[in-house]
This record gives sequence, structure tokens and C-alpha cells, in this order.
Amino acid sequence: MERHQLLGVIKAEQEKRGYVSEEAIAGMAQTLQLSVGDVYGVATFYSFVSTRPLGRHVIRICKSVPCHFQNGETMSGVIERELGIGPGETTADGRFTFDQISCIGACDQAPAMLVDDEVYGGLTPEKIREILQSFD
Ligand code: FES
Repeated sequence: MERHQLLGVIKAEQEKRGYVSEEAIAGMAQTLQLSVGDVYGVATFYSFVSTRPLGRHVIRICKSVPCHFQNGETMSGVIERELGIGPGETTADGRFTFDQISCIGACDQAPAMLVDDEVYGGLTPEKIREILQSFD
């Protein structure tokens, strides 16, 4: 296996297991004759790759400037209060993982977030509560 195949291998592991474990990273490093740090650096560069197990649903709220100026920070706080977790954390029941990421390309709907692959824009505290309740 060649070094340029690393991203494909990481993506395949993410799709298969839902995250890329430390053991998987070590295995890739050995197979590709790279350092663990090199593989970890690539794996953690992309927001679609997680190095930890995720909840059944992943909420990614935009923290970029256009969303920030449309109360994005406040909406992030609403999610934290509703779920009782902070960015980078997963609820104890495994229902949601919450993260903050850069622009998701929905600036015209700011403030916006992704839940799994779905974009939700024009967020308000009420709308966030409704969205969260719609997921099991
Ligand atoms: Fe938030 Fe683009 S800045 S979606």
C-alpha cells in the first residue's frame, strides 16, 4: 500500500466502524510505513473523520463569522443546555455527539448546523428544541 492511499484507507475505516480508533491508526502506520503521528495528523485534519466513537446522530454547528453574527454562539449554548454536553462530547445515552465546525456552506441560512448529513438553517432556540426532539 502506498502513502497516497492513506486518506482512502482512513475514509473506509470511518465508514465501516463509525470512527478511526488508535489501534486502526497504529495499524495503518505500520502497513504504510508511516509514523503514527503522520496518520493521526491526516485523520484529525478532516472534520468527517472522528478518532472517537460517535453518538447515533452527530450535530455540527457552524462557528464561522457569518453564523457567529447571527447568534450562532447563542444557538450553540442552547444545544449544550438541551443536551447537557459541550462541544466534542457525546450524550450518556449515545443519542447525540455535538461538535462545532467551520462554515458548512449554508451562510445564507445563518445560523446553521448539520445533523448527520442534513442542513438546518435559520436556527432559533425553539427550532433547535424541535429538531432535537425529532431524533431518537
Ligand atoms: Fe455558517 Fe457559512 S458561516 S454556514
